[in-house]
Amino acid sequence: MFPEPEKATFDIVINGRAVTADSSMSVLEAAEACGIYIPTLCHHPLLAPAGSCRLCVVEVEGLRGLLGACTLPSEPGMIVRTETPRIQEFRRATLESIIRMHPRDCLICPENLRCELQTVVSHVQPAPVPFVPGPPQLKEVGLFFARDYNLCIKCGRCIRACQEMRGNRALYFLHDECGLHVGTPLGASMDNAACESCGACVDVCPTGALRSNDQAGLPERTIKTICPYCAVGCQLKLEIKNGRVMQSWPDHDGPANHGQACVKGHFGIAQFVHSPERLSKPLIRQQGELREASWDEALDFIAIRLKSYLPEETAVVSSARCTNEENYLLQKLARVALGTNSVDHCARL
Ligand code: FES
Repeated sequence: MFPEPEKATFDIVINGRAVTADSSMSVLEAAEACGIYIPTLCHHPLLAPAGSCRLCVVEVEGLRGLLGACTLPSEPGMIVRTETPRIQEFRRATLESIIRMHPRDCLICPENLRCELQTVVSHVQPAPVPFVPGPPQLKEVGLFFARDYNLCIKCGRCIRACQEMRGNRALYFLHDECGLHVGTPLGASMDNAACESCGACVDVCPTGALRSNDQAGLPERTIKTICPYCAVGCQLKLEIKNGRVMQSWPDHDGPANHGQACVKGHFGIAQFVHSPERLSKPLIRQQGELREASWDEALDFIAIRLKSYLPEETAVVSSARCTNEENYLLQKLARVALGTNSVDHCARL
């Protein structure tokens, strides 16, 4: 890969503070890079800006009106304000209209624990507007994640994640007797709508409308690891509680996956790590029956059997489930110890 050409940087002023930016950054990104909070709901760092929620508005000296920081490119010498009385009043009115049909208890519910809407509400402090219940929306628990569109704020992030990040089209905005809502084409089940259950929509949902079935409170710690399911090398974050893996998330910093994972990496880690059916001891087949053995016994058994074959009688097939290092060691074993160059790999399929 070629190194990216260096971008020329310049200063802009946000809330009286000089902030370094470059021409590829929006005002929102420049503010976030130096820790200045601007409330957002439709913006997500892995998605192209949509500019639809209007919560990120700012004022820029010399420009008229309120401008969406997520779609506004940084320019040298800009003087930006993010918290004037006009901005605050506009944000309050905008947020009030967004949460008018949102169940009130949801805004203080601790269950989701990642709710961005709650963070935005506590920053913007909207007036206590009366709750106007809309038509009941779809609520279902799927195999890997649950959908409750009564909690949806129609930011469109899930639709954009499905289309932009995954190149899939399982979700759309629909308009019918339930009003504007997110759904599948012709109301098909997620399976029939070509959903791959990758969970990209779950990762970007700013409310509890889309939630992993594995979600079980805040973790005690999070560790980064590489997904063991195949050799792509997707970086995951594992959430750990009481010594158990609770759930896994694709890591935004992962160089191989850039915040994405397949259904196995996203929803299949905790199950297999703690599965009672998982093999944890070697098994040796004797007289057609498998019996448990120690590692020493199993390795001795294999070594003795391998020694009884000539190099030209031997071939080694390694696995895409192994790490690159393990695959390297296996071909080394084949060439140096077994004396064969007949080495193959199942990922060649
Ligand atoms: Fe900018 Fe929604 S975050 S318009």
